[in-house]
Amino acid sequence: MSLSDRLLVRTCRREATDRTPIWFMRQAGRYLPEYRAVRAKASLLEICHDPSLATEVTLQPVRRFAIDAAIIFADILLPFEPLGLGLSFQAGEGPVIAKPIRTEEDVADLPDINAEADLGHILEALRLVRAELSDDIALIGFAGAPFTLASYAIEGGSSRNFVKTKQLMYRYPEVWNELLGRLAAIIGTYLAAQVRAGADVVQLFDSWVGALSPADYRRFVLPHSTRALELAGGAGAPTIHFGTGTTTLLEDMAGAGSDVIGVDWRIPLDEAWRIFPDRAIQGNLDPTLLFAGERAIRTQVAEILRQAGGRPGHIFNLGHGILPETPIANVQAMVDAVHEPPR
Ligand code: CP3
Repeated sequence: MSLSDRLLVRTCRREATDRTPIWFMRQAGRYLPEYRAVRAKASLLEICHDPSLATEVTLQPVRRFAIDAAIIFADILLPFEPLGLGLSFQAGEGPVIAKPIRTEEDVADLPDINAEADLGHILEALRLVRAELSDDIALIGFAGAPFTLASYAIEGGSSRNFVKTKQLMYRYPEVWNELLGRLAAIIGTYLAAQVRAGADVVQLFDSWVGALSPADYRRFVLPHSTRALELAGGAGAPTIHFGTGTTTLLEDMAGAGSDVIGVDWRIPLDEAWRIFPDRAIQGNLDPTLLFAGERAIRTQVAEILRQAGGRPGHIFNLGHGILPETPIANVQAMVDAVHEPPR
């Protein structure tokens, strides 16, 4: 089967299909016992640096569920390793960046990086996954968007209020623009390299961009996300642009030019789609609904499909990543409900 025939790819291009494709963010991860078994022996970064282990973990959810895509096992923060920022993951704390970016000099000192040379382990994993993946299943590559990546690089880890990030943005807009411009080029060329290594579709994760007002989004972020998507799209595969808390940003996000826009559960799918009717849409089940019973899950899946209304261009997904404690039986119930919608 050629790339353009895979259901997910056809849906990204808003072609009419006979069913709705489904995959879910963070589908390889701690809610799966087989993932925890691998993690008992290798750290997150060790898995990411070992293409055969990364391949194994990428394929785990595809073996268990009838889903339409695999997403390469990696992390949005991996480019921080060749950038020399000192990335580690600490149990219970999340990511820690030992040498955060705070000044004009820190930005100027960032080395030039090259995806093939510096992130070749991820590209190799993509090639291995594609060789093992069933022909009809799409392979998704991804990267963090300039704003979300910058927030980790500046804060030194996860953040609630993004104080240091916004301080740099408001006080030193030239330094901010220089940093986001560098990140956009790195991300865009990395995504294009992922497509050349076998990704059918690439997703840009701007997970925390909902922290911004529409005016600040347009001024400080939109040009850089646009550039990253333009570089990625140049490789020929469809692009998905995702963020959370983006209800007020969707019109501007559409301006960044992706083929698909991913939305969270805070906005009804049909309302979101009215904002960008010329794009495909991805979403948007609240991941905490997977802690409710099967009845509640089936009801909300049916509601989302009703809002999509059978129009071409809907990819079923969660509104954000699946949570580590999620019961697997409920994930199965969600997948089944998407496959067998009530008539
Ligand atoms: O199936 C998949 O989607 C797996 C690949 C994947 C990971 N991270 C592996 C991972 C993807 C797509 C990501 C994206 C990612 N990483 C995002 C954007 C998506 C989102 O959820 O908003 C962000 C913000 C990160 C940064 C990150 N990575 C954080 C904040 C953390 C710690 C918090 C946590 O969830 O534990 C990570 C660690 C991480 N990356 C894990 C996985 C499976 C869990 C840690 C582990 O297994 O030890």
